[in-house]
Amino acid sequence: MSLEVRELHVAVEGKEILRGVNLKVGKGEVHALMGPNGSGKSTLAYTLMGHPKYQVTSGDILVDGESILTLTPDKRARKGLFLAFQYPVSVQGVSMFSFLRAAYNSAHAQSQPTIFEFKEKLNEKLKMLGMGEEILNRYLNEGFSGGEKKRAEILQMALIEPKYAVLDETDSGLDIDALRIVAEGINKLSGPERGILLITHYQRILRYVKPQFVHVMYEGKIIESGGEELSRLLEEKGYSWIKGYKGEEVSAEV
Ligand SMILES: Nc1ncnc2c1ncn2[C@@H]1O[C@H](COP(=O)(O)OP(=O)(O)OP(=O)(O)O)[C@@H](O)[C@H]1O
Ligand SMILES: [Mg+2]
Repeated sequence: MSLEVRELHVAVEGKEILRGVNLKVGKGEVHALMGPNGSGKSTLAYTLMGHPKYQVTSGDILVDGESILTLTPDKRARKGLFLAFQYPVSVQGVSMFSFLRAAYNSAHAQSQPTIFEFKEKLNEKLKMLGMGEEILNRYLNEGFSGGEKKRAEILQMALIEPKYAVLDETDSGLDIDALRIVAEGINKLSGPERGILLITHYQRILRYVKPQFVHVMYEGKIIESGGEELSRLLEEKGYSWIKGYKGEEVSAEV
């Protein structure tokens, strides 16, 4: 059982960005995908979720052995794939509660709970994550601090219980609190029934999350893979020692 990316080539507006990505995230595994700015990490995340702007020119994406390339984003979500906040903008007039309920119903088409049942489920997750109920009355992302956005993302993931979760940590302003929220959430939500792909160029987060696998993306390809020791090497030496890396020295620590 896995989320598998095979020889994936992706173009955006006619420009090739991903140039043959191979990656397999099994259930029960946590993978970290690192790499310098502009290497294609977010492109991979958007492509996995089926964003129309990202055109797969060759290769395949499989969920538990089944290609999802032709599926729309909502059908991919029903197959168990999750990308935190597909629409990371503030939407006027949509409360977190309504957003989470819609997201849940969209991912679980067969089992739509009543509003009461949903509230129970939500409370259970809030408790597990040590969060207060106040967040539910807030409008989606409106005026959310970096840490609150992260809390909302983790809550969304806890609720939806996806088989494969892709978390793209692009916020440049993540403070240590936000990093810890993400890390604790991942640690609580990882387990035998879930595979997690954590995309980041923050070395620091890997002090709190311990992925079994670490990959480095560069110029649209994964140029190095390893275990946890690879993240320590990146922290010490940056990216320049990796075979195939020809850019100037970029510290993995931001
Ligand atoms: N919608 C788009 N239109 C045009 N170019 C794009 C688009 N999305 C991505 N690109 C280009 O693709 C390349 C990879 O970008 P991407 O956002 O995937 O990098 P990243 O690894 O996520 O970087 P970062 O670490 O800064 O988040 C960049 O050169 C970027 O300019
Ligand atoms: Mg990115």
